[in-house]
Amino acid sequence: MSAEQRFFDFLKERIGLDVASVGPAIIERAVRQRCNALHIQGSDEYWQRLLGSRDEQQALIEAVIVPETWFFRYPESFATLVKLATVRLAQINGMRALRLLSLPCSTGEEPYSIAMALLDGGLAPHQFKVDGLDVSPLSVERAKRAVYGKNSFRGQDTGFRERHFVADGDRYSLSERVREQVRLQVGNVLEPGLLASEPVFDFVFCRNLLIYFDQPTQRQVFEVLKRLTHEEGVLFIGPAEGSLLGRLGMRSIGIPQSFAFSRYSEPEPTPAPVLPLPLPLPIPPRSVVVPPRPRPFTARAAQPVAAPAEPASEAASLLASIATLANEGKSAEARAACERYLQQHEPVAQVFYWLGLLSDVAGNAMEAQGFYRKALYLAPQHPEALAHLAALLASQGDVAGAQRLQERAARSSRTADSELKR
Ligand SMILES: C[S@@+](CC[C@H](N)C(=O)[O-])C[C@H]1O[C@@H](n2cnc3c(N)ncnc32)[C@H](O)[C@@H]1O
Repeated sequence: MSAEQRFFDFLKERIGLDVASVGPAIIERAVRQRCNALHIQGSDEYWQRLLGSRDEQQALIEAVIVPETWFFRYPESFATLVKLATVRLAQINGMRALRLLSLPCSTGEEPYSIAMALLDGGLAPHQFKVDGLDVSPLSVERAKRAVYGKNSFRGQDTGFRERHFVADGDRYSLSERVREQVRLQVGNVLEPGLLASEPVFDFVFCRNLLIYFDQPTQRQVFEVLKRLTHEEGVLFIGPAEGSLLGRLGMRSIGIPQSFAFSRYSEPEPTPAPVLPLPLPLPIPPRSVVVPPRPRPFTARAAQPVAAPAEPASEAASLLASIATLANEGKSAEARAACERYLQQHEPVAQVFYWLGLLSDVAGNAMEAQGFYRKALYLAPQHPEALAHLAALLASQGDVAGAQRLQERAARSSRTADSELKR
């Protein structure tokens, strides 16, 4: 056992962090940082300090967590939320306020995005309440302050900033109207009995946390999330985090890029490979009614793709049929159509992106990576390929690689944004 194993075990037990997901270097660096801050020479002395001090335990946790987040991350999921929330309010006849949970909420961008989306979508303040929980007291403090720098605004559409923030130099303060919708507190998803005395939630967001856990911990957390989610509610997760849900009685509600799941009454007979890919799976009879798909994958497909040399119509219709097949969950047919496309036409990024997603769904991460990289070779700023490859790398512990891709995606969306403003 390496000298540092005890720190890995400590973090695993306290916050679920799996050393394989972030790599040992990140934890070792955090331990070194803490030793330097306390003027401690060796890790044995630091270990003793850690065992004897709850404050130090929290400081080490703060040093390893990844608080990376921004407003309206995965924008489709917020558009989906607004539609589902409107339907849900009608279902419950406005008899009570909708209950929403963001766990982990980090520095607040996610729960505040939920509140802004619902207010902008026409819900009145008394019709919903958002809870945000995170294991990091520092992050929760920052969330409560609700003052943000430019890193929190990465999408192309920053109209919400004009509607809900007041600028102060290069910082932006969130309006009281949005802040009042959100209750923030410290909470650990592994804590037994977390929120046990609270009513269940209609919508639960648990995104970009499970990628840091090993499979048994993920399973444990999914059970917690299921307990917290209303029977007819919806659970939103991150793009790389669906692989256990099918086996735990939850299924994708089939809205592209939303990564939203609802309960499913019959557990699946065989473990299904799971998705970042949106499959149009049946909605359980008593679940929230799902509105028509807001935007098919094909709507974006044309954007980053170089024009094929062949007659555009034939290539375009083959691309459209790939999207349809994949959206219908016909993975084998979609894959065959991709291969046909590559035999008959110039290679384009979108086809490699589809192949990447199909491989991801089939659980073949190495193959998926190869395809995403080919997509990025042809279209270096392909937004979905960047996002999915980043999620894949993060789930494999290559946090630095994932971060580089996320930064590249953010740069490219900023460039697109400033071009739009010209
Ligand atoms: C990458 S952020 C995700 C924030 C947001 N959900 C998003 O997707 O943008 C991960 C957060 O998980 C929190 N976290 C880590 N372990 C946790 C645990 N056991 N319970 C609750 N929060 C935890 C960290 O403090 C960090 O703020």
